[in-house]
Amino acid sequence: EKGGHDYFMLKEIEEQPEALANTLRGHFDGGRVILDEQRLSDQDLRDVDKVFVVACGSAYHSGLVAKYAIEHWTRLPVEVELASEFRYRDPVLDRDTLVVAVSQSGETADTLEAVRHAREQKARVLAVCNTNGAQIPRESDAVLYTHAGPEIGVASTKAFLAQIAANYLVGLALAQARGTKYPDEVAREFAELEAMPAAVRKVLSTVDQVRSLGQRIAESKAVLFLGRHVGFPVALEGALKLKELAYMHAEGFAAGELKHGPIALIEDGLPVIVVMPSPKGRAVLHAKLLSNISEIQARGARTIVIAEEGDETVRPFADELVETPAVPTLLQPLVSTVPLQVLAAEIARSRGYDVDKPRNLAKSVTVE
Ligand code: M6R
Repeated sequence: EKGGHDYFMLKEIEEQPEALANTLRGHFDGGRVILDEQRLSDQDLRDVDKVFVVACGSAYHSGLVAKYAIEHWTRLPVEVELASEFRYRDPVLDRDTLVVAVSQSGETADTLEAVRHAREQKARVLAVCNTNGAQIPRESDAVLYTHAGPEIGVASTKAFLAQIAANYLVGLALAQARGTKYPDEVAREFAELEAMPAAVRKVLSTVDQVRSLGQRIAESKAVLFLGRHVGFPVALEGALKLKELAYMHAEGFAAGELKHGPIALIEDGLPVIVVMPSPKGRAVLHAKLLSNISEIQARGARTIVIAEEGDETVRPFADELVETPAVPTLLQPLVSTVPLQVLAAEIARSRGYDVDKPRNLAKSVTVE
């Protein structure tokens, strides 16, 4: 049932192109983004003046990624919050607030309670969920199903990529309702999303390279992850995968924070994974990250760089280079996350752990 793979998670990693295609299928028609269930009127969507994304774990990271796109496309302020924090403070919510609850299982206790709290405060709730008919979509005003197929591995992989794509569709739905994007612009963004399954398929050709890298760094004490912009949540996601599967100390940082503390952690041989932005996209981000890598390399870090294919400028700073296909900046997390998933799984396997059943963890956290 693992489809000839050493562990189930690898099968799910390899299913990601198909999962993404399924998330997009049926959600765009006649030039418009279509939700699966919509008990909100177009006027309700037009009236939205603030968005909260609430979620836990990887789903939370998908929200952090989406913030960049939704703010850019809609000019609405977007806050992304851990459901367990959101529900115990007193967030400012009213009927013009849209709360996007992201959950693979649709049963996560904290996310469900955050939804209930939001609805009590009259906010509108839109669920992004992978499980048909689960509690969170049942209690929401609108639903976008990710359709990634059942995810068995405790560590989220294909559901995470699907959540990013679905959150982007939510952003486009808001942009079209608010008129911040013309219909042809929405169609163009959707077409770019539709090119992503092929890009993810391409990045899967790095699996063997990344597995061998994982075996070589499996005995490290810790691994750090650095990124900027949409690469920052990717760094957080890479670190979460490594913690939950390989039981290693792993931390993701915004690269701009290095000098504010984390650089003190760098020592000889410490693996640092750097998620590079495209050199063609945001040149300033690329330049800043290059200087960050040179700083950590000078302090002895073992630099493992995830960069766009053909980006020759990173080579001198990369002890190991993993190339990903060129895609638009906002879509980069869909490709750059993949090697980090493989890396975590392979490090865990090398250390003798059960990749599909990591200790102390359940697939869905229905008790707090
Ligand atoms: O079912 P959910 O998406 O609500 O689950 C949220 C988290 O529990 C989940 O993403 C968890 O962090 C994963 N094990 C991460 O790989």
